[in-house]
This record gives sequence, C-alpha cells and structure tokens, in this order.
Amino acid sequence: MRILANDGLDKKAIGVLLDEKHEIETDHYDLQELKGIIGDYDVLIVRSATKVRKELIDAAKGTRLKLVVRAGVGVDNIDVDYAKANGIDVRNTPNSSSNSVAELVLGHMFGLARHIINANLTLRDGEWNKKHYTGIELQGKTLGIVGFGRIGRALAQKASALGMDVVFYDKFVSKDERFEYLPFTELLARADFLTLHVQATDKPLIGAEEIDLMKDTAIIINTSRGGVVDEKALLMGLNENRLGAAAIDVFTTEPNPDPELCNHPRVSVTPHIGAATAEAQERIGQEIVDIVLEIGEKLRARAS
Ligand code: MLT
Repeated sequence: MRILANDGLDKKAIGVLLDEKHEIETDHYDLQELKGIIGDYDVLIVRSATKVRKELIDAAKGTRLKLVVRAGVGVDNIDVDYAKANGIDVRNTPNSSSNSVAELVLGHMFGLARHIINANLTLRDGEWNKKHYTGIELQGKTLGIVGFGRIGRALAQKASALGMDVVFYDKFVSKDERFEYLPFTELLARADFLTLHVQATDKPLIGAEEIDLMKDTAIIINTSRGGVVDEKALLMGLNENRLGAAAIDVFTTEPNPDPELCNHPRVSVTPHIGAATAEAQERIGQEIVDIVLEIGEKLRARAS
C-alpha cells in the first residue's frame, strides 16, 4: 500500500512497513497540498497537526484512500463519522501513551509542589531564593482523577505508590476494587490535586462554578484537551487566589497558547508533550504497523 505519514512516524515502524513492501512517505503537506495528492495514497497517518475535516475528506472520497490512522488517542482532529460515511476507515492507537502521560502529570505535580520551575528560572538569573521555595509533599495529599480509563488508572497506581490518597470520578465507571469513586462535585471539594483524563468536550468541564467548589490551595493539571478547562476562569481563579496553581499541557489555541496563562508564576506549562517520549512513540509505531498490516491483509483477502 502507499502510505503518507503526514506528521512523521517512528523510525522502527517505518522500517517494518518498508520490509513488508509498503511504500511510505513522511513529508509534511498543508491542507491545500494534501487535497491535491491525498487520492494517491491508501493510508494517511496523522498526529494532531493535520486536521482531517470535511474539506480533505471530500477530496479523498472515491479515491484509493481507505484508512486514516491517528497516531495517538484523541481523534478530535478528524471528522470520524464523515470519513466513515464516505468509506474511509478511521483508527487510533489508544494503548501506547498512557504511561508517558501519567508520568508527565506526576512531573508537573512535583514541579509545582516544590516550585522547581520558578526556582530554576530565578537561580539562572543569579537569585538564591532558598526561603521562598518551601513546598509541599505529595504524600498524604488527595489526588482527584476525572476520567478513569487507561491514563487515569496508570496514574492512580503511581500516585498511590507515592502515598497519595487517590479518588476518582468517571461518567461510566462508579466502582473499583482499589480506588474510591466520588461524585464529581464531592471529588472537586476533596482534591488537593485535580487531574483530567477525558476526551475533548463541547463545553469546559472545569469552569468558574467548578473552581468555586475546590480548595483555594488546589492544583489543577490538564493533559487531556484544551477546551476541557475554561482558561479564562482558570486565570481568574489563580489571580483571585481561589486556586493554588495549575499545570497545562494542552491549550484551546494550539500552537499559540494564551501568553498570560503561560507566563503566570503559578502555572507550569508544556507544549502538548504527553505522548512525546521515545517509548510511547515506539509503541504507537508498533500499534500503527499492526493496524496497517491488518487492513492490508483484509484487502488482499477481499481481492483474491
Ligand atoms: C493524544 O491524543 O494521543 C495526544 O494528545 C498526543 C498527541 O497528539 O501528541
């Protein structure tokens, strides 16, 4: 098959696909360019940068394009129903990045709890601010996890090993053998750290009303999708000292996040790097290889 990995792909995965006699291209094309060439490929692989919306799908329908693979979990950059209605299958790689995202959440939590970011920045400027940086321990604090899927569960185990009290809320899961379920508003009130692991939402899950229910010292971590937290309400909560701090890896306006949010002294920011580890990318590559080989096999069987 002819494959276009428009936002790149792990080297090992490229090697395996080439060994299996597939043709693979890893140049990046913008939407206008893509519309002109998309019909020359059987498979399009994207991360979050390439948007697969109606316009591109219209250019691809009726051509040889059979499959769009999202190298990652969230398919919010793809009009999945429209693609499928036009005979183009859509798949993602949900199993590969949970551990990396969970570790990034912990990294942000440690960073904020111990003022690591500000201590770094000021010490580089020659300031020895030892007295300013008395932090808190994670041990004994309550971690509220919203969304108890793969990432939420991986994080629960790690946080619990650190001595944190883990509680969770999930729309679809209300029981767990090991961890305590709480209704959403109760979880907001109990959490010292609140972390979100849900899909993209039409309206923010965390806005002014929810922030009002939380402790003034609470720390919110968002590594899910930008719109899940109302950025304006978050800034207001921080500025009015109704919130302790926040860690944000995902923004409503990527790749141009709100500078006020990014420069806030009690906000820790990263540029959407939850899945950006060598290990996660290798596993994602392997998942993509499995999907492409499976589809290739099906097509061969249908043709014979
Ligand atoms: C995902 O949905 O898997 C993540 O947001 C990773 C990414 O897009 O880089």
